[in-house]
Amino acid sequence: MGKELLNWEQGRWIGQTLEVPNGVCAVPGNDLDGPPEGLAYTEEVKAATDHLYPLVEDFIPEFEWPAYAPLVHAINVLKTQKNAVVLAHNYMTPDIFNLVGDYKGDSLGLAIEATKTPADIIVQGGVHFMAETSKILSPDKKVLIPSMRAGCSLASSITGADVRLIKQRYPGIPVVTYVNTSADVKAESDICCTSSNAVAIVESICAEWGVSKAIMLPDEFLAKNVARQTDIEIIAWHGRCEVHARFSAQDVRDMRDANPGVVVLAHPECPPEVVAESDFTGSTKAMSDYVGEHSPGKVILLTECSMSDNVAVANPTVDFVRPCNLCPHMKRITLENLYECLRDETNEVLVPEPMRSQAHTAVQKMIDVSFPKEKGYFDPKSPIKDIQVI
Ligand code: 13P
Ligand code: SF4
Repeated sequence: MGKELLNWEQGRWIGQTLEVPNGVCAVPGNDLDGPPEGLAYTEEVKAATDHLYPLVEDFIPEFEWPAYAPLVHAINVLKTQKNAVVLAHNYMTPDIFNLVGDYKGDSLGLAIEATKTPADIIVQGGVHFMAETSKILSPDKKVLIPSMRAGCSLASSITGADVRLIKQRYPGIPVVTYVNTSADVKAESDICCTSSNAVAIVESICAEWGVSKAIMLPDEFLAKNVARQTDIEIIAWHGRCEVHARFSAQDVRDMRDANPGVVVLAHPECPPEVVAESDFTGSTKAMSDYVGEHSPGKVILLTECSMSDNVAVANPTVDFVRPCNLCPHMKRITLENLYECLRDETNEVLVPEPMRSQAHTAVQKMIDVSFPKEKGYFDPKSPIKDIQVI
């Protein structure tokens, strides 16, 4: 899996590459030498956090816990004082996910939670487009992100101006936009989708418009995987998730050879040939649910590294093979910058009007579509289709 992903392919920008010399992955930021200034591992901190350590004992050696516990305690105290919540995506490191995350889940789950939480402050344990989505849905709340540099190769592959041109070129065809986009792209879209509802959304908007074609932006691979599950003709954009694009069908075959009987779960941002080699494909929540419901003896999650760590905590009897593709953007969120961001209320994410209300229409329209959860699963056996990529 040491392949280089270039950000240009056949003259087209497919997204942002990893900012490390070998282009493979970045190291998680939580490399603490000791608690930040002003925080100490006191008896009070110890008493308040001892019960949490078992959740991360596989990731944090016991001798390092005194460096983590004061931060965890300080964040949890600040959350109560400020009526704040941490919405943690499944790709957050296990310390954030297990110790300070109030709501944990996939992009759809986090978006829905943003509409429901009674908190005054949302701290987004995730990347910038997720924080924007929270602000779009909850304009009266203060939305903070621990690192403004937590981007996404998909979000950086397309702009609102691109979408306006696409709509001019393809009038009468609905534009379905993945939530992994900036607010200006969402504002230009007819409806949003996530990896857990993409097929249902495409079919719902086409039924509403009385058409049999949809444009899906910006993830080429998600669009190709959706096209395999529906009779709707899909036109795709050429963006890529720099994490999932790195997996190949040969990788999966090699992993199966090395691990006989292993169950392979893939995310639909993987290339269709990878999905075809998997046993099950769905969103991060769908993968997590699959492991919980089926308790496979040995499993591989073809997705971001922290996901296996987090699912493993809830499924101690399952053996996880861990092919590792870290998302450098997700890894810019650390316990330390999360603490500083909540303490100082810095890095507030704002979305100007009327962009916010236009984007809100597209995101809320997505949330309002109900569908059976099986509709969110991708059948690896369905034939791969050759679709138009613009
Ligand atoms: P989901 O959690 O919605 O499956 O998305 C995965 C992802 O790559 C988010 O950046
Ligand atoms: Fe974007 Fe991929 Fe990282 Fe998700 S995992 S934030 S889609 S680059």
